[in-house]
Amino acid sequence: MAKSNVQSLMRMAQQADKHVLYEKSVQAPETEIELMIETFKEIRGWEPMSLREDFCGTALLITEWCKSHSQRTAQGVDLDQATLDWGREHNLDPAGEEVTSRIELLCENVLEVQQPKMDMACAFNFSFNGFKTREQLRAYFEAARQGLNENGMLVLDVYGGTESMDEVEEEREVDDEDFTYIWHQESFNPIDHALHCHIHFAFADGSRMNRAFSYDWRLWTLPELQELLLEAGFSSTHVYWEEFEDTDDDDDYLEGTGNYREVTKVDNQESWISYLFAVV
Ligand SMILES: C[S@@+](CC[C@H](N)C(=O)[O-])C[C@H]1O[C@@H](n2cnc3c(N)ncnc32)[C@H](O)[C@@H]1O
Repeated sequence: MAKSNVQSLMRMAQQADKHVLYEKSVQAPETEIELMIETFKEIRGWEPMSLREDFCGTALLITEWCKSHSQRTAQGVDLDQATLDWGREHNLDPAGEEVTSRIELLCENVLEVQQPKMDMACAFNFSFNGFKTREQLRAYFEAARQGLNENGMLVLDVYGGTESMDEVEEEREVDDEDFTYIWHQESFNPIDHALHCHIHFAFADGSRMNRAFSYDWRLWTLPELQELLLEAGFSSTHVYWEEFEDTDDDDDYLEGTGNYREVTKVDNQESWISYLFAVV
């Protein structure tokens, strides 16, 4: 049978690439790069040029970082060689030699990498939640601080809200795509904050890719994270929260604007993502 006929018999979930689905569902590199640069400028007064992405996965963010300015350099660190290889083939190589010559990909543990010193380091999509004890997480923050210049800054995204400590399965349509992203929190233990969760994808033909990604986390809270960052030697921490606006007749409905600003007090929400900056 011709290859095209075989493919047409395959269901959409079998033909899909889980890394493509992931990047389209949960990554927004342009927004995060803009936030990192603007916040760094606000706090330091100049633009950061070098970035280490810890837990970099497919290296989409650092590829965009280097594409955004001809002087920017980046290092991506991840334990999983297969994911790094996918990122090299699908993100770095298409960006061309001029961009990739400024990117270093390392298959290493984030606890082990501190060279070269960078202006910024980031750990996104909540990956630090894989460290389960205060000692482990403090050790990561110490390693991250030691890998930064004396004017450097680490940024983390942080997930929380009343719903983050619950069993939920939440579907979200992905703009202009023929699949649905499903975030599934299978279990949460209030005794140790163990949170087991998965990403599934559902397709227009009824097929599903179950457990495309699974996470075994300790759900850290903002006060714990800020305390540990200071214990690890950072001089200050800054929480940036998304601004909301009333775009609907329904009084209770507030929509995120995509703009973040520094805050020290907010109303809790069912579910929120904030950015936590730690200054060396
Ligand atoms: C949720 S993905 C994050 C991908 C990307 N940073 C993002 O924002 O979507 C987590 C990644 O962290 C990597 N990882 C987990 N523990 C690690 C460690 N100790 N050192 C380096 N990479 C690690 C995994 O291999 C995986 O690719």
